[in-house]
Parts: sequence; structure tokens; C-alpha cells
Amino acid sequence: MPETPRNPGLPPPGDVPVWLFAIQSDAPLAAFEPMLDRTELARAGSFSNAQAQSRFASCRSTVKGILCSLTAQPPGLMHFREAPHGKPFIDPLYFNYANTKTHGALAVCTSADIGIDLEDMSRRCNIRALARLFCPQEREQLERLDGEELRRAFFTLWVRKEAVMKADGRGLLIGLGNILADVRAECESVCISSSGSPESLWRVPVRFFGNLALAVAVPKARPDLRVLFPEKASGPGDFHHG
Ligand SMILES: CC(C)(COP(=O)(O)OP(=O)(O)OC[C@H]1O[C@@H](n2cnc3c(N)ncnc32)[C@H](O)[C@@H]1OP(=O)(O)O)[C@@H](O)C(=O)NCCC(=O)NCCS
Repeated sequence: MPETPRNPGLPPPGDVPVWLFAIQSDAPLAAFEPMLDRTELARAGSFSNAQAQSRFASCRSTVKGILCSLTAQPPGLMHFREAPHGKPFIDPLYFNYANTKTHGALAVCTSADIGIDLEDMSRRCNIRALARLFCPQEREQLERLDGEELRRAFFTLWVRKEAVMKADGRGLLIGLGNILADVRAECESVCISSSGSPESLWRVPVRFFGNLALAVAVPKARPDLRVLFPEKASGPGDFHHG
């Protein structure tokens, strides 16, 4: 049987391209109408303040713009569906995205499900208190650190854990303490355990862009997958990746 031709815009099966882009917090919702469907516009409208509305709509629009260009679909025909715990999906590719107040990040793959997380390391949070939710080995790594080193190590663990939660699709329901990660950049293996036994293994590289920490989770059983991080963040509507 002849093979179905691949869409030339889709990445090769071994590539996981990643986009990091600025999002707008001061644009009117009407500016995003060409990209968003009725459900998305209603969700944007449900946010209480104009900045949150603009951020959601801007991030979704950029994500959809990239996915539309990869799949050669017009935005009007692209409607996200949701898996049981809310992970959005479309055919014919896997994708996941995350956002902070200023930036969004998207990863796509045609051959494996993936997860991504992006965090603003400068935001106010009680690191020592949140670290109590982590595994004992992780807390031990953090206890030795202080100041900026502690903050960076904490967010390394956080984005690795959340990227894995999002790759799995159950999100925070898995529990931060059931995911074991490492603060060291080169130690990319992350394990989800339930009742003490390993359930799944992931490889989760991390990169830093100024105050932003970005992690992408891919299945450990796929050493062929190459996560292609961008060199820097791009502006809204600029779809290039590294
Ligand atoms: C997924 C989750 C970790 C996102 O955390 P967050 O830090 O607020 O948001 P991020 O910026 O990292 O990512 C948001 C994006 O993740 C995606 N997402 C949503 N649910 C997801 C899931 N279960 N798995 C993977 N990705 C998911 C969406 O694209 C979402 O973007 P949107 O808000 O524009 O729709 C969190 O919402 C969660 O755990 N959800 C599932 C658990 C659940 O069922 N909760 C409901 C009641 S307990």
C-alpha cells in the first residue's frame, strides 16, 4: 500500500521543536477573533481583567498560528479537543504549551506525547515552603543551597516535574511528591512513581532564558528524540524556532 504523504510542514518524527514567544497583555479581544473559536473567545471573556483576557487570547492565538502553519490548516478549522484532565490535542501531531505573564512556550512532536513547562523565576514564592511538597532526595539537594542558586535549583525541579505531569496528561493530580527529578542540569531523567514503584520514565532537558526556566519532557524510551530549543524568545506572531 502506498504510504500517506507527510505534510511537508510537520517536523521529522525524531524532532521536538520548541518555540518561546512574547505574549501581549494589552490587546483587545477583538484583535484575536480571526484565530480563536467561540469556545476560546468565551473562555477569554470569562477572565475578570482585561490583561488576563489578552494574555490567554494572545498565547492561544500564537500557538494556533504555529500549529496551523505546521499542519497547513486554516485557523477557522482548527478546534482543540481535550483529554480527560484537560490536555488539549489535535490530529495529526502531539503538542503542549505553557505560559507565564509575559511569555508562552510550545513544543510539538509527530511521534510521541510530550509535555512542557515555563516558569518565571523572578515571581514571588516561598521556595522553602513549596519544597516541602518535593521528594526527600530533592529536599536534600535544595537544603545545601541558598540565594540565587537555591532559586534556580528549585525552579529546575519545578519545571521538570510539571513538564512530566503535563506529558503524562494527569497534571497536578499525580502529586509533586510522586515525581523524582534532579537539580543538576545534566541529570535529565525524571521518574513518576505510584505507591513507591516506578510507573514511567522521562527525559527532561531544561534551559534558561533570563528569568524564564523552560523544560520539555519526552519519553526516556525514545533516545532518538531531539529537543530543539530556540536560541531566544521571539515577538508575538513570530514563529521561528531554534
Ligand atoms: C496542567 C496544569 C499542571 C497546568 O498548570 P499551569 O501552571 O496553570 O499552566 P501552564 O502554563 O503550565 O499550562 C497551561 C496549559 O497546559 C495545557 N493543559 C491543561 N491541562 C493539561 C493537562 N492535564 N495535561 C497537559 N497539559 C494541560 C493547556 O494547554 C493549558 O493552556 P490553557 O490554559 O491556555 O488552556 C494544571 O492545570 C493541572 O494539573 N490540570 C489537570 C488536573 C485537573 O484535572 N485539575 C482539575 C481539578 S483538580
